[in-house]
Amino acid sequence: MNDDPNEGKLLEHEADGIKELDNLLPRWWVWLFNLSIVYAVIYMIYYHVTGTGDLQAAEYTKEWKRGEEIKSASIAKFESGIATLTPTTDKAVLGDGQRLFVTYCAPCHRPDGGGLVGPNLCDDYWIHGSNYVDNVKTVINGVPAKGMLSWRGVLNPDQIKAVTSYVYTLRGTKPPNPKPAENTVTAPTGPSQFE
Ligand code: HEC
Repeated sequence: MNDDPNEGKLLEHEADGIKELDNLLPRWWVWLFNLSIVYAVIYMIYYHVTGTGDLQAAEYTKEWKRGEEIKSASIAKFESGIATLTPTTDKAVLGDGQRLFVTYCAPCHRPDGGGLVGPNLCDDYWIHGSNYVDNVKTVINGVPAKGMLSWRGVLNPDQIKAVTSYVYTLRGTKPPNPKPAENTVTAPTGPSQFE
């Protein structure tokens, strides 16, 4: 009597002595396979037949638009947040501003603000706007293409306020051998306009 459990399952073919048993596939595997077929049909109907779902390109465009909205909202918030800023006249804060200026800004703008790599900050000629708020924006965002760093993240908001307020006091100070003006349109908005 033959009690081999594989009896009758042996398939006809054979390769180099290796034989194959005709075992049933595990049930979990078969169900997974069936599910994947059902999933594929639903997927096809959802994305390609009825077009209910967004394909990659449409999803990307939506995300991009959402990103742009977030970006312009935060720029608007930033602009309105600093729109009413005014330079401080507090001597202690200006002292901090001067120290920060000498440490971080002087290598490019000279300790007296007369300009070196960066422009002269003492005259009435401005590249990025002459108002205090324009200066704050330039300091926060920088002009990376021209070598002016963005100080966001390097200096905290109080430090930015202090250093930019100090820059404001430099207007009209006429340091020796200043860097020539970058443009020819005067825009006096700082102390020098009262001379
Ligand atoms: C690595 C050199 C460098 C350093 C450091 C630097 N700047 Fe500048 N800065 C520049 C350059 C270059 C420009 C001109 C950008 C342009 O031509 O658009 C500039 C422009 C500016 C402007 C705008 C001037 C204008 O005419 O509109 C302000 C304000 C300014 N810097 C302030 C600062 C302050 C404050 C610091 C220190 C926290 C600083 N910069 C540090 C290179 C530097």
